[in-house]
Amino acid sequence: MAEKNNLTSYGDAGFSAFIRQAFNRHLGHDQQDFERPVIGICNTESEINRCHSHFGPIVEAIKRGVLMAGGTPLEFPTISLGEIFTSPTTMLYRNLAAMDTEEMIRAQPLDGVVLIGGCDKMTPAQLMGAASADIPTIMITGGPMANGEYEGRTLGACSDCRYYWQEYRAGKIDADELARINEALAPTAGHCMVMGSASTMAVCAEAMGMMLPGAAAIPATDNRRLRLAQETGKQIVQLVELGLTPSKIMTENAFKNAIRALMAVGGSTNAVIHLVAIAGRLNIKLPLKLFDELGQTTPFLANLRPAGKYQMEEFAKAGGTPAVLKELEQLLYLDEMTVTGKTLRENLANVTVSEVYRDIIRSFESPLHNTGGIAVLYGNLAPNGAVIKPKAASQHLLKHKGRAVVFSSTRDMEARVNDPELDITPDDIMVLQNAGPVGAPGMPEAGMLPIPAKLLQQGVRDMVRLSDARMSGTAFGTVVLHIAPEAAAGGPLGLVRSGDIIELDVENRRLDLHLPDEELTRRREAWKPPVITPRGYTKLFQQHVLQADEGCDFDFLKSVAGRCNHD
Ligand code: FES
Repeated sequence: MAEKNNLTSYGDAGFSAFIRQAFNRHLGHDQQDFERPVIGICNTESEINRCHSHFGPIVEAIKRGVLMAGGTPLEFPTISLGEIFTSPTTMLYRNLAAMDTEEMIRAQPLDGVVLIGGCDKMTPAQLMGAASADIPTIMITGGPMANGEYEGRTLGACSDCRYYWQEYRAGKIDADELARINEALAPTAGHCMVMGSASTMAVCAEAMGMMLPGAAAIPATDNRRLRLAQETGKQIVQLVELGLTPSKIMTENAFKNAIRALMAVGGSTNAVIHLVAIAGRLNIKLPLKLFDELGQTTPFLANLRPAGKYQMEEFAKAGGTPAVLKELEQLLYLDEMTVTGKTLRENLANVTVSEVYRDIIRSFESPLHNTGGIAVLYGNLAPNGAVIKPKAASQHLLKHKGRAVVFSSTRDMEARVNDPELDITPDDIMVLQNAGPVGAPGMPEAGMLPIPAKLLQQGVRDMVRLSDARMSGTAFGTVVLHIAPEAAAGGPLGLVRSGDIIELDVENRRLDLHLPDEELTRRREAWKPPVITPRGYTKLFQQHVLQADEGCDFDFLKSVAGRCNHD
């Protein structure tokens, strides 16, 4: 095992080999086990991160595959981030997880690695780390939950978590009914089963060529996932023999393929941040304008919640990501290499899309919409960009001018949003400040601001909402997110006052604050930067996190121009 990398921890290679050989015997291994390809299985299983609580049999299947192909599998743990149980937000820790992944891959004597993740931040964190470490790597996710059901209605976590909570707040359902719905919302192991951030990042990883075909959509509890895991184990040994590393697979064109897939499935806005961050590890720039350009020329094909009707279980039946990519074939870079050891063109050669499932995955010629699911906005309120999901918004609000009602932080919003005295009407624009990467800190999923209770009770279900925060991929509404620069970095968002007039014009990709320049300058001069947390990881985060348009990675983790991190 000493020969597996150049680490000679004691300044004596012979002694390192000797001591490693002695210590390797604890699992019953012989030295020849380490003369085969040694495959690390980077396991993020956790009982707290419920989306990752079922990995045991999947990991066993990966190990079987590795052994069958003549390798030696060795499982090791890294940080596990679950959306629901990590405070203040998993995004605060995505970069920490990426560092953990990178450094453990780099530090340990491995020839190849299988990443197993699934919940929202784990797929990007693992791909960021693997991109920087750059040894042969395959990703597999834990897969989505099966559908929930309540009184004949399909339930999806967490679009329905939000929907029924809002109905409860509006007085449309009572606490007993809410409790019955709660029991059915998350019925099996797996990650959220709508096209939220976890499903979206899985689709992107597959479209980029980092997962075996079909891996994104197969439900967590379907035996096909175990078979796929076994195949993944076999394939990583093959990748080691081929010397096929992430930097050879995640090329600029592979990222463009992933953006096309993101747009075609109506995926999460979070994927914009994550793809930019992964690409940054490989010295590839993905400007926000590229997302908009590709979005405008990519048909919206997948009829999946929260923008559509179905969920991941149906998506898997309809053929999943390979079926979407087959439909998009004419727009894709087909000569990109993938973890199958074949090009995307070869992977798609035998894919057929069944007409039976055409309402789930539409044809290229007959899409749900002519353009993709995410639009990028600019204007004097978002000089470096902002994003919106127009298809998950109220169409009549996509062009809207209104009076700002400002909340200076998530805490301020929580304190005042349901106050019956709050001066707000359905035509106003709700503005949340200081919820970005530095300001919150960690850029929580607070961007779908709750509609004030008094308006909910009047029947209002959507309003224009703006912030420098993110939004869950499972959420919906006329919500402008990721405004950059954020308020806490001195962005114009932090200068907005209640009563100002804001104009949103999605068709023309504009977001503007109607205020004389002199007044804006006056406010800017009076602006004070936030106080940085005095110690620890949060201090490091606030001092080094990049803005949303740059992927929110740490400035010191991006690839150095012209060199990969591992050179
Ligand atoms: Fe893990 Fe939704 S909570 S994917």
